[in-house]
Amino acid sequence: MNNAQRVTDTNTDTNESKPIQTDNVIQLTSAPLLSAENISMLYAPGKGFDDVSLTLYPGEVLAIVGESGSGKTTLLKSLSGRVAPQQGSVNFQQTPFEMTNLYEMSEAQRRGVMREHFGIVHQHPMDGLRARVSAGGNIGERLMEVGARHYGDIREQAKTWLTAVEIDVSRIDDMPLTFSGGMQQRLQIARNLVTHPKLVFMDEPTGGLDVSVQARLLDLIRNLVRELQLAVVIVTHDLAVARLLADRIMVMKQGKVVESGLTDRVLDDPRHAYTQLLVSSVLQQ
Ligand SMILES: Nc1ncnc2c1ncn2[C@@H]1O[C@H](COP(=O)(O)OP(=O)(O)O)[C@@H](O)[C@H]1O
Ligand SMILES: [Mg+2]
Repeated sequence: MNNAQRVTDTNTDTNESKPIQTDNVIQLTSAPLLSAENISMLYAPGKGFDDVSLTLYPGEVLAIVGESGSGKTTLLKSLSGRVAPQQGSVNFQQTPFEMTNLYEMSEAQRRGVMREHFGIVHQHPMDGLRARVSAGGNIGERLMEVGARHYGDIREQAKTWLTAVEIDVSRIDDMPLTFSGGMQQRLQIARNLVTHPKLVFMDEPTGGLDVSVQARLLDLIRNLVRELQLAVVIVTHDLAVARLLADRIMVMKQGKVVESGLTDRVLDDPRHAYTQLLVSSVLQQ
C-alpha cells in the first residue's frame, strides 16, 4: 500500500441484518483509481450482484470473498469493463484526478482503457493466453497492442518477464499448452504485467493449482504487486489468499456485500454472521 496517511473509522456497531459499512477510510494523499457506485447486474433474482459500491486507491489490494455463486466473477467483469451493469456506474481515473464512467464511453474507448491500464488474470490460464502462440509471443503480443514495434526490444522484454515469473528463458519459443498449470498461470501474469497496467483484476488466480504450487504463485504475486505498486481487485473463496495479499476485504453473499473493511479487522473480528461462519469454517479445516 503506497498511501501512507489514512484515517480509519472504527465502527463498533454490530447489526447482523444489515450490511456493515466499515469502509470509511479517508484518503489524504490520492484520488481513487476505480470507484463503483450502486452497481447491479442480476441475471435472475439472487443471480449476479446487487447494489455494490466500492472505492479502490492506487496501489491498494481489495479481495472479494464469498462462496461459489455469490456473484464475485460477475462483479469482477463489471468492474473491469466486460459486463455493463444494469444500474449504477463504474468510474476509472484515466487522467489525473478525473473519473470517467467506463460504460458511458464508446466501445473503442473502453477497449483502449482496458488495453492501456487494466490487466485481467483469468482463473483458467488458457482463457487469458493464446494457445497457438509461443510463450514469448504471448508476452510480445500485448506489447504490440500498445504500440511496440521493434522485434529485438519485444523479445528482450519477453525474456525479462519470463525470468520475472520464474519461467526458464529457454522455453521462450515453446507453446503454452506444453507448460504445467502453474507455469501457464505465471505466463498469463507476465502477459498482463508487461505493459505496466495500473490496475489488475484477478479471478481465483490460484484456484485450479496444487497446494504447493499455489503457495509459490501467491508469493510471486505478492512480490510483483509490491514492486510494481499495483492496484488489484482479486476474487477468491480462499480467506488465506485474502489474508496474504489484500489490504481490504469485501464479503459477498447471494449477490450482496454483507461486510467490508481492513483485512485484519474483517478476519480477526468478523461482525456479520456470514463472515463469522466463513472464518470459523476455515479454522475447522
Ligand atoms: N452469463 C450468465 N447468464 C446467466 N446466469 C449467470 C451468468 N453468469 C453467472 N450467472 C449466474 O450468476 C450467479 C453468480 O455467478 P458468479 O458471478 O460466477 O459467482 P461466483 O464467481 O461468486 O461463483 C450464479 O448463480 C451463476 O449461475
Ligand atoms: Mg467465480
